[in-house]
Amino acid sequence: MLTENKFASDVITRSAEETIARGRELAAKMRPPLLVLLSGELGAGKTTLAKGMISGLGAAAEEEITSPTFTLVHTFTGPVKVFHVDLYRVEGVQEFDSLGLEDIFAEPAIVFVEWPERMWMHTDWPVMRIDLEHAGDDARKITVAR
Ligand SMILES: Nc1ncnc2c1ncn2[C@@H]1O[C@H](COP(=O)(O)OP(=O)(O)OP(=O)(O)O)[C@@H](O)[C@H]1O
Ligand SMILES: [Mg+2]
Repeated sequence: MLTENKFASDVITRSAEETIARGRELAAKMRPPLLVLLSGELGAGKTTLAKGMISGLGAAAEEEITSPTFTLVHTFTGPVKVFHVDLYRVEGVQEFDSLGLEDIFAEPAIVFVEWPERMWMHTDWPVMRIDLEHAGDDARKITVAR
């Protein structure tokens, strides 16, 4: 695919720091309301990219952005409201209302979701899809589609 699809863009990063930098670049173009779906295998770099995006939005400092795997959702209130959700531990395909997550879409925010394939999310907000793939050693391919 590489750059053939004009609706998608790919970059390869070679370290966690480069992925954070890519996240900051992407954040510069984000405006609420926006749902950002972060797909990719374990350790692909979803949380690392979220660190770059959420810190880039000015919603939190990098070190405050950790994996919400056990808490399901982290909420940040900065210049923009940000939710960072990780559905890895959600069993089966559930609806987000059943998890008490419906408030996330109550007012314009930027919502980052790791493991989005675990749950059915219904919203009329714009969606940005980001896919991360292992590309050997510390390399990751980050594909953005909208
Ligand atoms: N190019 C890279 N981009 C991102 N992370 C990298 C890169 N190279 C190495 N890493 C390392 O890979 C790991 C990525 O972990 P991270 O928690 O971001 O993945 P994840 O996709 O959120 O995993 P999970 O599915 O468990 O939530 C980190 O330990 C990070 O330091
Ligand atoms: Mg993660």
